[in-house]
Amino acid sequence: MPARSPNVPSSPFAVPLPDEPSTLLGNLTPAQFMRRYWQKKPLLIRQAIPGIQAPLSRDELFELADSEDAESRLITHFRKSWAMEHGPFAPDELPSVKKRDWTLLVQGVNLHDDRARALLDRFRFIPDARLDDLMISYATDGGGVGAHFDSYDVFLLQVHGKRRWRFGAQRDLSLKEGLPLKVLQHFEADEEWVLEPGDMLYLPPHIAHDGVAEGECMTASIGFRAPSASELSGQFLYHLAERLDDAHSASAKSGALRYRDPAQPAVSRPALLPQIMIERVGAILANIEWNEKDVASFLGTYLSEPKPNVVFDPPRRPLNENRFIERAKQSGLKLDKKTVLLYDTHAYFMNGEQDLMSGKAKKWLPELADKRYLEGKRFVTLSGDSSMTVLLHEWYCAGWIQVDANA
Ligand code: SIN
Ligand code: CO
Repeated sequence: MPARSPNVPSSPFAVPLPDEPSTLLGNLTPAQFMRRYWQKKPLLIRQAIPGIQAPLSRDELFELADSEDAESRLITHFRKSWAMEHGPFAPDELPSVKKRDWTLLVQGVNLHDDRARALLDRFRFIPDARLDDLMISYATDGGGVGAHFDSYDVFLLQVHGKRRWRFGAQRDLSLKEGLPLKVLQHFEADEEWVLEPGDMLYLPPHIAHDGVAEGECMTASIGFRAPSASELSGQFLYHLAERLDDAHSASAKSGALRYRDPAQPAVSRPALLPQIMIERVGAILANIEWNEKDVASFLGTYLSEPKPNVVFDPPRRPLNENRFIERAKQSGLKLDKKTVLLYDTHAYFMNGEQDLMSGKAKKWLPELADKRYLEGKRFVTLSGDSSMTVLLHEWYCAGWIQVDANA
């Protein structure tokens, strides 16, 4: 297998423009793709990235699967029996690459590798708030994860070797019982294509698919999260509850909403749920209110929260603030590949933390968030704003941003 590629998009900052036809989308503009296909129907794009090679070589992917920082799974289909194990995997724990019918999946490769992050950046015509991660699968001949459906939108980009994809909407989404992974009981494909390096298949949620390697292959899946109503409601209520706690601890009337029952009479049936408790708790719950700002604050903090296994790497010998500013003026700065920075008109959300968008921050923060970098010359104009330089230096010391946008 070839070493990793020099020709995966080298500019990490190429955000496709909505109205510009793109090879990535088979010469559709992002606007046309979103209108016609996104969340609606599958699209096969031949040579979406001509001449692509895998962002990581097989050995580099195996090395990542050996690390605690990355989430990896090994799926085997030996003697027609499905098995799944979770990583990390030492090299001798993986089956031989000469053995057929197995696949290794590594999630969140974009958090660990700049080339993978650059590949992901090509899909930023879709809001960052929807982005989940870039997964890379390696499979030997016959390898795959079985016929299944996802609740995610996904772009399946063939980055090495060939894979036969069969897919289609299903009437029956019931799963085979007793398996360690979700495999459909009665899969029926409407379409079947063999994807070669550079080809890509877009699938909206719930379109069942089965991808089987034809010889050794690697596929990159760019996945977009679509949280369920129960996940959103649960997390939102948790966010509101935390805010209520903060408000209480800050307020002199602390405890005003705590449960009280001065009118509780003595009881002869101690196991009976008291009616006054039901009423009082109902009154406490009826006090919960929220507006659009609370929803935005929840979404911004929740969606920018780093995944549980994310660890930032602060600089070992950080520059002091003055030297940091000088360096940034020369060579700009960029967000770390693990950083998520979102914003709206009132606030910005950086790796799960929220702050108000001041008038001064409006001049640079949306630009940094959208482009994921600031050029040195922009920094020269803006660096008179000390609130900006203090904040950026803090982020730099935390490993959230880096000087040298061009590195
Ligand atoms: C794979 O890359 O093998 C699996 C991707 C998927 O089916 O979602
Ligand atoms: Co899938």
